[in-house]
Amino acid sequence: MEQYIIKGGNPLVGEVEIGGAKNAALGILAAAIMTDDTVRIDNLPDVQDIHVLLEAIGQIGAKVERIGRTTVLINGSEIGSISVDYEYIKKIRASYYLLGALLGKYKKAEVPLPGGCNIGSRPIDLHLKGFKALGATTRISHGAIIAQADHLKGGHIYLDTVSVGATINIMMAASMAEGRTIIENAAKEPHVVDVANFLNSMGANIKGAGTDVIRIRGVEKLHATEYSIIPDQIEAGTFMFAAAVTKGDVIVKNVIPKHLEATSAKLAEIGCQVEEFDDAVRVVATRRLTNTNVKTLPYPGYPTDMQPQIGVALSLASGTSLVTESIFENRFKYVDELVRMGADIKVEGNTAIIYGTEKLTGARVSAPDLRAGAALVIAGLAAEGITVVDDIVYIQRGYENFEEKLRSLGAEIEKVSSEKEIQKFKLRVG
Ligand code: EPZ
Repeated sequence: MEQYIIKGGNPLVGEVEIGGAKNAALGILAAAIMTDDTVRIDNLPDVQDIHVLLEAIGQIGAKVERIGRTTVLINGSEIGSISVDYEYIKKIRASYYLLGALLGKYKKAEVPLPGGCNIGSRPIDLHLKGFKALGATTRISHGAIIAQADHLKGGHIYLDTVSVGATINIMMAASMAEGRTIIENAAKEPHVVDVANFLNSMGANIKGAGTDVIRIRGVEKLHATEYSIIPDQIEAGTFMFAAAVTKGDVIVKNVIPKHLEATSAKLAEIGCQVEEFDDAVRVVATRRLTNTNVKTLPYPGYPTDMQPQIGVALSLASGTSLVTESIFENRFKYVDELVRMGADIKVEGNTAIIYGTEKLTGARVSAPDLRAGAALVIAGLAAEGITVVDDIVYIQRGYENFEEKLRSLGAEIEKVSSEKEIQKFKLRVG
């Protein structure tokens, strides 16, 4: 099993390029099969989740041609199966976006029900509620959801909970349903807007993405397009927090600052200097961070995918902070690992009470999930001594070339897979 080994203490200094947004790319890749023409997608993030979804798309019969690390051509004209293999949904839940895409195009789809996940049960009842509102029947048989409709007709859908996945999945199916669909209480995340813009570039008629009411007029067919995915604001925010906890000075390039407003505001609140440019943000931290309180909310509120990262920063801040996780029920699994590095944190329900400590000390820790794993790497960068992070396969799902990008900023970090390599690293860094 591969691990990251880190020697903490180096301030991160320099510039880092952000890749394409994983959570936009997953919806866009699924939507790409909805036309029989060839679609070209640029600025794909080079991460495991994308590779898996492209395999799943190939498995149902679409033609997938990778052109370089971040560009792909997809042609869905020869899709022979509307049934996605379990192995793909087991690897990434977002394979369920093929439900909305296949239902919209073929009026039938069969996708294994995604299991639970480390951060919560993550039901998909709202996705199914939306499909039913479009006239589809949905049933669960042998662990798979089968959604089908003789005829998809626009409907009026109110999402009880703001859901990124349900908004994207319903938007895809509705884009080829007859008539008008309204999605109320829709998610407003930048990646929802990116999927809507992508569908519109294929000839869909979607208005209001980015607000809480999305209006869609269905079309008969979708056509070819060339599209470039927005930058990943979660990858960007992760590097911004890495700069903050190491008292560094980092320019995060190829971002849309507006997408980072909640993160930038919190970093400024805890004592960082944050400077915005057209397509970059600079974070400078010269002294010890100070405490604050934060509650995760749907966009434009503070993102849940940035909760572990701010948790690490606040564990080193002066004073006591409260972090409240309002989206998922189990997103504090990193706390136990952080306490082993010297943090003083108590989790009560969906709130972590964080008593800031002067320093963290390196330890052997394990990544419980994608963003918590990245947060533990950030903790290792700030900690005194050596940290080894196990189970980095989670981190590789959503961060491209993570250790290379951190090393280019001055971090002492390597990917290792043996005790021998760990010893060699320890000898080298002294
Ligand atoms: C997306 O997950 C992201 N994943 C998550 O990022 C992100 O944390 C989440 O949105 C919130 O921003 C992708 O985009 C692939 P939701 P999603 O539906 O769509 C409840 C990462 O680190 N809910 O907005 O699954 C749900 O349980 C990942 O990149 C229902 O009750 O999130 C949760 O409490 C982690 N029924 C809340 O809504 C449903 O049918 C928000 O979930 C759907 C969701």
